Amino acid sequence: MEKYLKNKNILVTGGSKGIGRSIVNFLLENSARVAIHYNRNGASLEKTIKKYPDVAFPFQFDLENIKTIPAFMEMVIQKMGHLDVLVNNAGIAVSSDITGPDEDWINTWNKTMDVNLNATGFLCKKAIQHFLGREKGGKIINVSSRAAFRGDTEDYMDYAASKAGMVALTRSIARAFGKKGIVAFTIAPGFVQTEMAQQFFDQYGKETALNQIALENLTKPEDVAPFVGFLASGLADHATGGTFDINAGSYVH
Ligand SMILES: NC(=O)c1ccc[n+]([C@@H]2O[C@H](COP(=O)([O-])OP(=O)(O)OC[C@H]3O[C@@H](n4cnc5c(N)ncnc54)[C@H](O)[C@@H]3O)[C@@H](O)[C@H]2O)c1
Repeated sequence: MEKYLKNKNILVTGGSKGIGRSIVNFLLENSARVAIHYNRNGASLEKTIKKYPDVAFPFQFDLENIKTIPAFMEMVIQKMGHLDVLVNNAGIAVSSDITGPDEDWINTWNKTMDVNLNATGFLCKKAIQHFLGREKGGKIINVSSRAAFRGDTEDYMDYAASKAGMVALTRSIARAFGKKGIVAFTIAPGFVQTEMAQQFFDQYGKETALNQIALENLTKPEDVAPFVGFLASGLADHATGGTFDINAGSYVH
């Protein structure tokens, strides 16, 4: 994969932990230049930055500050020179009690939409504008979820809805901008062993997740990252608009 990723400039959101960190590591191991976006876990990136001082660049940004996304993207592009690939990985899943107060429910709904869908949409817009100004175009990889297709439990309806929005967004980009050299893909993981999934395990038990999958072991972030690398490499461009399930056979459609 190194041959295809070498010197590609790739922005990964939510790159300091979980799936994002694994994607960042895979890309760096394969000689890409990576803009690592993070929100609160900057300290956890120190080792990576030390190991790859010339090709790993950290950028702090809270994706709830949607209005300042243009300034954030400008900063990233200026530092990197240009962008070849945007990986929208950052996301939240917040449990929301359907029988609880309306105000709490709507607040969680709005926060989930802001981070998972609204910020992603705006980041895509800014990336597309940048790609349109480049002869080589660019690629967008959006990390959605199995929940977009299968649905989720009653307390994660907002999460499922936001992730389904990401799928339609990605497909629209693929259809609208293919002739301009822009391709877009959706990754749809099932349970992946990260802090996010831990919330579900705490609530429903790990056995519940294990019982749903066809494979023996739960998916790890390292099982997702190489696929993102493959999509970023340029070897899969004719699959633009496609969704790629990585869910250990728990939902095959
Ligand atoms: N873990 C799973 O089971 C699973 C399943 C399907 C899809 N996903 C998706 O994969 C992606 C990564 O999830 P993960 O499991 O690694 O979760 P995680 O909680 O370990 O990481 C989430 C990342 O998003 C970032 N983030 C959250 N809110 C942010 C904000 N306001 N501003 C900036 N960054 C913010 C965090 O800093 C973190 O880096 C998410 O989009 C998630 O929806 C995860």
